[in-house]
Amino acid sequence: MSEQATSARPVLVVDFGAQYAQLIARRVREAGVYSEIVPHSISAAEVAEKNPVGIVLSGGPSSVYEDGAPSLDTGIFDLDVPTLGICYGFQVMARALGGEVANTGLREYGSTDAALSTDGGVLLGGQPADQTVWMSHGDSVAQAPEGFTVLASTASTPVAAFGNDERRLYGVQWHPEVKHSLYGQNVLENFLHNAAGIPSDWNPGNVIAEQVERIRAQVGTGKVICGLSGGVDSAVAAALVHEAVGDQLVCVFVDHGLLRQDERKQVEEDYVAATGVRLITVDAREQFLNALAGVSDPETKRKIIGREFIRTFEKAQADLIAESLEDDGDPIAFLVQGTLYPDVVESGGGAGTANIKSHHNVGGLPDDLTFELVEPLRTLFKDEVRAIGRELGLPEVIVGRQPFPGPGLGIRIVGEVTAERLELLRKADAIARFELSAAGLDNEIWQCPVVLLADVRSVGVQGDGRTYGHPIVLRPVSSEDAMTADWTRLPYDVLAKISNRITNEVEGVNRVVLDVTSKPPGTIEWE
Ligand code: XMP
Repeated sequence: MSEQATSARPVLVVDFGAQYAQLIARRVREAGVYSEIVPHSISAAEVAEKNPVGIVLSGGPSSVYEDGAPSLDTGIFDLDVPTLGICYGFQVMARALGGEVANTGLREYGSTDAALSTDGGVLLGGQPADQTVWMSHGDSVAQAPEGFTVLASTASTPVAAFGNDERRLYGVQWHPEVKHSLYGQNVLENFLHNAAGIPSDWNPGNVIAEQVERIRAQVGTGKVICGLSGGVDSAVAAALVHEAVGDQLVCVFVDHGLLRQDERKQVEEDYVAATGVRLITVDAREQFLNALAGVSDPETKRKIIGREFIRTFEKAQADLIAESLEDDGDPIAFLVQGTLYPDVVESGGGAGTANIKSHHNVGGLPDDLTFELVEPLRTLFKDEVRAIGRELGLPEVIVGRQPFPGPGLGIRIVGEVTAERLELLRKADAIARFELSAAGLDNEIWQCPVVLLADVRSVGVQGDGRTYGHPIVLRPVSSEDAMTADWTRLPYDVLAKISNRITNEVEGVNRVVLDVTSKPPGTIEWE
């Protein structure tokens, strides 16, 4: 993972598996210090080459005793770089430096009471003598290495934290990166600022100037294309590239007719006004509706939407390339992608740029045509991308957008997708979104799919007469990462207002129901 977003010297977060490393890397950045994730297989020489200001060893799912447990080049401890070991990383450190790690059979999992053994030293200084920390371990450090002071303990873990000020090596058994550890962020900040002496001077905005330089160096006078989805990542990536190379960039937005109210306008007007980007909208509404006619099965719908999307984008690409060849014989050579750091880390890293073969089953393009990818967000987390978007002046409706699936409203109509049903759902969705925003609930919910049960009808009484209409489902969820979710307990008066407005204002709907299922077992989307 040879990522370098900035010239800032990094804190290296050594990844021992699971998802802990990403969370630690984010918390370090929240402390105003640039961080990068590296695999535990990194050698001491490779670490030295990166010239880090600090190292954090992450937790991991293994026991240090397991066969094949992830190990570390212990030469890293001799580099004189301040290092903090967390959970598994704490045990790896203890063992490497001559301490003792034992499988005591006493597991600790979840919130645990810890007591400081001394004044807490540099690492825990200023924190309450008794505090709640979040634990998840089977093995324990039974004996700290020589020269280390025990800084905290719990009922079943005599060495729950230790430190050696001279060597600037520290460790905690608990997970300071997890919010349930009440003073967790303070542990990280004490380590970074007080023990390692690293100033708090990094923020995502620092990346803009450096990325602009980098993009200019990569692209030169070449032409660049970017597919805009209306989502945050592609919007911010395109804005950064535009900042760097102006009209060498052309953006393509495919309107597949499955968008929510005003989304096309937000891209075509608000986004373009804020960035000045050159935008081509492909109106493919009819094409998608035709392709979806008669189809109710969710997976079939998804496949059709995916296929039509690629076709449309490829066609637009081919047209633009043909046009540029006609203009000056210089083809579009670069493709912008809004790849984020979690994608890079999860796919095991990779070199800065990759060549992908263009999809070109249309337009008679040369067989060997390839695009070079431009991925200016490869080192950033989502919230940092939002911060950069705001700094670049992008409108809040785009930067603050909650997740919305690529197949759009097509997978929020249970049943066949038709123009009338889309119109109906768009109205209901707009009402729900408006009322949730007006009640100040946007940050409380992760997203709130609004779903039309097109194949279900129920009896109602509206005005003076009997109706036989469709239900609308509200699916407000709270989540950290969409992998799991809980239904959001929205205030009744907000629910009542949404229900009233939808049944009054959206013809064909006579019932609004609330989905009270967590994920699992239910997914967030209905299809
Ligand atoms: P599920 O329904 O699987 O959704 O619990 C998890 C998250 O992913 C979003 N989602 C999608 N996003 N293309 C996307 O870009 C898709 O096909 C897609 N399907 C689901 C969903 O909105 C939720 O945030």
